[in-house]
Amino acid sequence: MSTVARMPQTPPVHFLVPRKLTDTELAQAIRLDIEAELDAINLYQAHIDATDHPLAKQVLAHIRDEEREHASLFWALLRELDPRVADEDASAGIKLRLLGEGASKEAVEAAGEQPDAKRSTGPTLPSGFTVGPLRGSS
Ligand SMILES: [Fe+2]
Repeated sequence: MSTVARMPQTPPVHFLVPRKLTDTELAQAIRLDIEAELDAINLYQAHIDATDHPLAKQVLAHIRDEEREHASLFWALLRELDPRVADEDASAGIKLRLLGEGASKEAVEAAGEQPDAKRSTGPTLPSGFTVGPLRGSS
């Protein structure tokens, strides 16, 4: 009997589609793909944590990081397929910033209702802002 803990597995799609997927169905499939990528990240990280073998840790970390890229690409695709995800994603960036600043629950919830938040494609930087200002000035 194995004592290795099993990571959650994403159930495969159990039906054959005798036609091309609609965009709504494709968005659903992409959500499953995202879940599979996240499961893989957790699985590889668990294996990294479970060994001291240097080469195995390097290989697993490399693959784990590729899964992160895959998950991000799928998320970007999902934003294209499901405008509601894009809207919520834009609001989430603002809400995250407000939560980090200690804003009230009401302010955080209101941020998601503002038209500007729904139109945003993501966090914005001040005009002329570059990597330079992030570097130390001393
Ligand atoms: Fe992947």
